[in-house]
Amino acid sequence: MTLYERIGGAETLDVLVDRFYRRVLTDPRVFHFFQGIDMAQQRVKQKAFLSMALGGPEHYAGRDLRAAHAHLVAQGLDDTHFNAFIEHLRTSLHEQGIAPELIGQAMALAGSMRDDVLGR
Ligand code: HEM
Repeated sequence: MTLYERIGGAETLDVLVDRFYRRVLTDPRVFHFFQGIDMAQQRVKQKAFLSMALGGPEHYAGRDLRAAHAHLVAQGLDDTHFNAFIEHLRTSLHEQGIAPELIGQAMALAGSMRDDVLGR
């Protein structure tokens, strides 16, 4: 089974991404990066991207992570922001009752994207 199936598929991902952004958008360390961003669209993109990354069926047609975040790196996006962002992911997965082993796998996957997101 893919990680996507093991965490509960599309239904879990919908709830997860909504919860996750609710956390991110109320976190004073990171919410300023999202000012002026169409969050309805952002949720759709993030769901498609995560589905693809977790081995699910959805097709992600957005920009690659390096290109998508380059203007944010120019605004100062760094490891502290990245850490805050993925901690919200961890908390959201935990809140949803995902097994610790699967959370570990999802976090490793997110962590593997750090250098692309931060343009290194
Ligand atoms: C593993 C970590 C991350 C993943 C997988 C991820 C994924 C994505 C994806 C798929 C998009 C859409 C790209 C597109 O427009 O085609 C995006 C855009 C964006 N991300 Fe991330 N992201 C990550 C980390 C971060 C962090 C740490 C921040 C800021 C704290 C951030 C802020 C944003 C913003 C503001 C946009 C919208 C950019 C725009 O449309 O101008 N992301 N991200």
